[in-house]
Amino acid sequence: EKAGYEHFMLKEIHEQVSAIHNTLAGKVSELEGTIYLKELNMTEDEIRRLSRIQILACGTSWHAGLLGKYLFEQLAGIHCDIDICSEYRYRNPVMDDGMLAIAITQSGETADTLAAVREVASYNCPTLAITNVVGSTITREVDSVLYTRAGPEIGVAATKTFSTQLTLLYLLAVKFALSRGKLSHNYVKGFITDLRKIPGQIQQILNQKETVKECAEAFAHAKSYFFLGRHLNYPIALEGALKLKEISYLHAEGFAAGELKHGPIALLEKGTPVVTIATKGQTYDKVLSNIKEVKARDATVIAIAGNKDTEIGKYADVVLTIPQSSELLSPLLSVVVLQLLAYYTALARGCSIDKPRNLAKSVTVE
Ligand code: F6R
Repeated sequence: EKAGYEHFMLKEIHEQVSAIHNTLAGKVSELEGTIYLKELNMTEDEIRRLSRIQILACGTSWHAGLLGKYLFEQLAGIHCDIDICSEYRYRNPVMDDGMLAIAITQSGETADTLAAVREVASYNCPTLAITNVVGSTITREVDSVLYTRAGPEIGVAATKTFSTQLTLLYLLAVKFALSRGKLSHNYVKGFITDLRKIPGQIQQILNQKETVKECAEAFAHAKSYFFLGRHLNYPIALEGALKLKEISYLHAEGFAAGELKHGPIALLEKGTPVVTIATKGQTYDKVLSNIKEVKARDATVIAIAGNKDTEIGKYADVVLTIPQSSELLSPLLSVVVLQLLAYYTALARGCSIDKPRNLAKSVTVE
């Protein structure tokens, strides 16, 4: 059932190629520059009247939501908040007319997420769920359900459910942007062309997984690991750190790269591995400065960069490359490198990868 892979996690990392392809099927028209989400029970008018989005999620799904916040604000111009579900209920949330709550949960059974959704629904706030499990509890609690088509995920560490959640968040944000006149169909044509290239580009990353393995082995006994990213890559840095700590039991922290100098930099020691997402985009130069700050403390920089970047090698100790893509979509590629890094680190440390200690696939207690 592992189809020749040593672990479900490695199989599921590879399945992202088809999982993203399947999640897109029937939902995008490259010719028209349009997104079709027929499961979305909202009229064009309701989409235009949205004043605020509230995302509710836990763990890896919360990281997907954090990227979603950037997308809803940047593409569709809709104010978006995101909360960890176990916090949301206890802080007397303020609801507005025109608010939409989006719950993200791969299992559809996370108790904290269900409780937060019931809370917003009790105020008659429209609700939407993004989940991977048909017929799960969340699907009975919300007004609309968008399914990720990832197929069953057996490994406790979420991988293909995360990248397919991101895929749906991209589609939803672009759909809202179109309805609200924030993007043109012409722009969306280009966006869809780029998005359809992502599965093949993930395959290219998988074809070079040995380089990620070598890097993982070189740092498998580090005392602690840091992950830095800015803007769209900040949530990906958090996800890289969570993957590593969950399955390899190494201490790992993810930070917004610009926040490093406000405290965490004190933790850097000679040789501390600092994974920095340094793909080309509006914050690239700032990320290069962050890399220099890290190097000045003798820490070791592992950069994730585009394969056409000829500059990064001057600053980073190790460069792990991803195929060139638009800045907007590159998080879908960077995360695959981080999943592989976590996987091969755990493998080198002899950990129980598919069933890490103390963790369960779905957390049904609050
Ligand atoms: C991490 C992981 C957890 C889940 C979290 C929420 O690999 O799997 O952090 O993301 O427990 O689970 P769902 O998405 O089922 O609500």
